[in-house]
Amino acid sequence: MKERTAIVTGAAKGLGRAMALALAEAGASIVCADLQADGAKETAQAIGRQMIKQKKGKIINIASISGFVVNRLTNRHPLSYFVSKAGIIMLTKVLAAEWAQYNITVNAIALAYMKTDIINPDPKIQAEMVYNIPMGRLGEANDLNGAVVYLASNESDFITGHVLTVDGGYTVW
Ligand SMILES: NC(=O)c1ccc[n+]([C@@H]2O[C@H](COP(=O)([O-])OP(=O)(O)OC[C@H]3O[C@@H](n4cnc5c(N)ncnc54)[C@H](O)[C@@H]3O)[C@@H](O)[C@H]2O)c1
Repeated sequence: MKERTAIVTGAAKGLGRAMALALAEAGASIVCADLQADGAKETAQAIGRQMIKQKKGKIINIASISGFVVNRLTNRHPLSYFVSKAGIIMLTKVLAAEWAQYNITVNAIALAYMKTDIINPDPKIQAEMVYNIPMGRLGEANDLNGAVVYLASNESDFITGHVLTVDGGYTVW
């Protein structure tokens, strides 16, 4: 990853921070951006413009398993969360198709429950989450390291429009 620059949005904490550290460890220079864009589409467009000019780039969107399954929990996300995460997955596929000609890959990582501030702190709800994960635990931020470094590296150059699931097996059941 040497001579690569990674722009990581939302890198101040949580999963963004862990991903920025993993990419830095792999040798990339990191720009931690709190882009005040309205969402993933505007962010991808802003960054994509530069990638199109340089005819190279790798975009990794953070989606959720809630983009393709309905969580089986008593305390479920609101409808808007499911719809927006499904939108991220489709955004990934459309941009992958449109920008392949510029040598830009666009992939997504779909997560299940990772231990960050956004997760419901209620121990009963967390126990229910764990019950639904075959690996028997919540994800740690570091569980993303391999996936993000792989999708940012040359090793994934012919992979685009893919949604890599990092969920401890949640979607198996
Ligand atoms: N934690 C989980 O269990 C889980 C599961 C599935 C998906 N995700 C997804 O992972 C992503 C990161 O979540 P997290 O758990 O690290 O949350 P978090 O709240 O710990 O961190 C989110 C970060 O994003 C930043 N941010 C928010 N809106 C932004 C914007 N418009 N532009 C730029 N930065 C912005 C915040 O300042 C913060 O630093 C989210 O998209 C979330 O939906 C998380």
